[in-house]
Amino acid sequence: MPADTINILFLGDIIGQPGNRAVFFNLKNLIKKYNADFTVINGENSADGFGLLPAAADQFFQSGADVITTGNHVWQKSELYPYLDEKDAVLRPANFPAGVPGHGSCIVEKHGVKIAVMNLQGRENMSTIDCPFRCGKELAKKLKKETPVILVDFHAESSSEKEALGCWLDGQVSALVGTHTHVQTADERILKGGTAYITDVGMTGPEESVIGTIKEISIERSLTQMPLKMEIADLPVTFCGVLIKIDVQSGRSVSIERLAEPV
Ligand SMILES: [Fe+2]
Repeated sequence: MPADTINILFLGDIIGQPGNRAVFFNLKNLIKKYNADFTVINGENSADGFGLLPAAADQFFQSGADVITTGNHVWQKSELYPYLDEKDAVLRPANFPAGVPGHGSCIVEKHGVKIAVMNLQGRENMSTIDCPFRCGKELAKKLKKETPVILVDFHAESSSEKEALGCWLDGQVSALVGTHTHVQTADERILKGGTAYITDVGMTGPEESVIGTIKEISIERSLTQMPLKMEIADLPVTFCGVLIKIDVQSGRSVSIERLAEPV
């Protein structure tokens, strides 16, 4: 008999080798500490900031992740394309045009509960892919036939687009969390229809950095306006994410807690 509620841990963008190491060596402890039943991580920055490699994804699963989401860097490593087709629990944004590798949602059963995860990508200041609003609504309707517990990772730049999608899907999904900016926002809340929401969960990456990269290079880029190559800062990491408690019968969220946990 499954429990009445399920605890879902969602961790933001895993940044390069420092982020990967944090997941490999510390994710299991974090899952235990927060009593998480199910863990989702965004892995699209794990390959030196750009993309995801199959070997890293395998190690994320071995470290306790149940589902890996991605975003605009999903096409960076072509080794990932067949892997996206093979692995149900590795997602790319669902609103890419039809015909691209992979899939944008999955349903995983754990502790007797079916949990659906959907990945969408924004269009403001990003590529003009298909509409995340229409795609998200349709997909939520389809997934709801299988389970009321539905989590959305909305990988987007614009806070207004993220809030609008949260309101649009309120009551249709259990939670909608934002990723991509790498900066955690303090607006976590349960919307009127029972959907847990946060504009951005932040990154799992080095805190002493500019969104994960060496701060001196980033400052120099700003000062000179030259396209200097950004490099990942190999410094101590903070896990940023949220812990969401969901009623498994209704699919409504009971609570959402922001976390920023130094490794
Ligand atoms: Fe991104």
